[in-house]
Amino acid sequence: MFDIYTIGAEVLRQTAVPVSDFNDQLRSTIEAMFVSMERGHGIGLAAPQIGISQRFFIIKIEGDIGRTFINPELVLTSPELVDYEEGCLSIPGVYAKVNRPGTIKVQAWNEKGRPFNLEADGLLARVIQHELDHLNGVLFTDRLSERVRQRVLEQYEKRMRA
Ligand code: NI
Repeated sequence: MFDIYTIGAEVLRQTAVPVSDFNDQLRSTIEAMFVSMERGHGIGLAAPQIGISQRFFIIKIEGDIGRTFINPELVLTSPELVDYEEGCLSIPGVYAKVNRPGTIKVQAWNEKGRPFNLEADGLLARVIQHELDHLNGVLFTDRLSERVRQRVLEQYEKRMRA
């Protein structure tokens, strides 16, 4: 299991590098990430959140299989945007609505090194975009208006002091 880095950690702001080796170490890291994510009651976890600045993340939504995305690229995003409430294990306890494309197509590799394409909408599309942001050093709070961002970050700091 891993400790999850929280906002303020440098690694969350770095642009992660592509995975080049699909080896056993990567697979055991991914397995341990699923454990850490479930312990934190999260539905997505990106490698930078456990201090690994590499381009992969995992997702497990209730009722769906666990999914691993390595070196993911968005190949299509729908023009229509939707509001959806987001939270993040790296900014625990606070939530806000974020506006993003409702439907996406993503291309990635799984932990066995097999490429795949996936079209997603709803919650899955949302989580994929949130986790992809982590690989580029972006947190969901960066996508809020200045006013809402300040409110959310104040809430978070208050929670941390409590
Ligand atoms: Ni997050």
